[in-house]
Amino acid sequence: MTARVIDGKAVAAKVREQIADVVEQFRNQSNVEPHLAAVLVGDDPASAIYVRNKERACEKVGIKSTLHRLSGETTQAQLLDLVQQLNSDRSVHGILVQLPLPQQIDPIAILDAVTPLKDVDAFHPENVGLIVQGRPRFLPCTPRGVQVLLAESGTDVSGKHAVVLGRSEIVGKPMALLLMQKGETANATVTICHSRTQNLADVTRTADILIAAIGSPEFVTGDMVKPGAVVIDVGTNRVNDKLVGDVAFDQVAEIAAAITPVPGGVGPMTIAMLLQNTLTAAKLSVDS
Ligand code: GUN
Repeated sequence: MTARVIDGKAVAAKVREQIADVVEQFRNQSNVEPHLAAVLVGDDPASAIYVRNKERACEKVGIKSTLHRLSGETTQAQLLDLVQQLNSDRSVHGILVQLPLPQQIDPIAILDAVTPLKDVDAFHPENVGLIVQGRPRFLPCTPRGVQVLLAESGTDVSGKHAVVLGRSEIVGKPMALLLMQKGETANATVTICHSRTQNLADVTRTADILIAAIGSPEFVTGDMVKPGAVVIDVGTNRVNDKLVGDVAFDQVAEIAAAITPVPGGVGPMTIAMLLQNTLTAAKLSVDS
């Protein structure tokens, strides 16, 4: 293997320590305990694990977390009621509704109902609009996590060609926005590829920075990567009970200059950025 492995676990641990210090200062100054309310509907095992990890991470940095568990038969009206209740609860600063939701519930109706000031996922149209305009309130957790990983790994982004594989609302689209904007670890020339892109490998081979977020196990193979590229793997696919990324790690590690592993790459960073957003939300509640 020639590529340097970017250790997301270590970077996330460092970021969490910094957040813990700021949380302590904030609590001392304001007497406010930052508080994240997580909502889990149904009993999807993967979602239950994610939510538990988020709760643990909160507790470790001095952020209170409460979990609202609802049955898989919950109606949209019942879930909207809970969201409204959390919106008006002054002790709650951040609201996270874990996705996916059961099929009887329209996720857009629920995510739009979360008050933008508590929308720590940055999914609300108002917050997405602020990101588009380059004046974010909250930064989208996974894309921001990738950006911090690029910064911490010393990757030069300005003027480089970043190719984002995937156009999801949660990762692909906001990832492209963060990288194309003016600012630190940004100013890239960005291309978004997706399932309809023609001659995909010809495009990905021109990437200085390749971000794989297509949700297809080991989709990115060695022949799709330019020698010396930095490859970030956002994929979390469960294959035979094992977590596998969107990148064929062993092959690509022979060609890339740096690569993130799965697990232990982007995943821990997403949670660290959620903590950051919850702290931001608590600060906003004091300022407003
Ligand atoms: N499900 C998968 N990723 C996410 C995320 O970033 N936020 C929420 N709320 N649910 C998810």
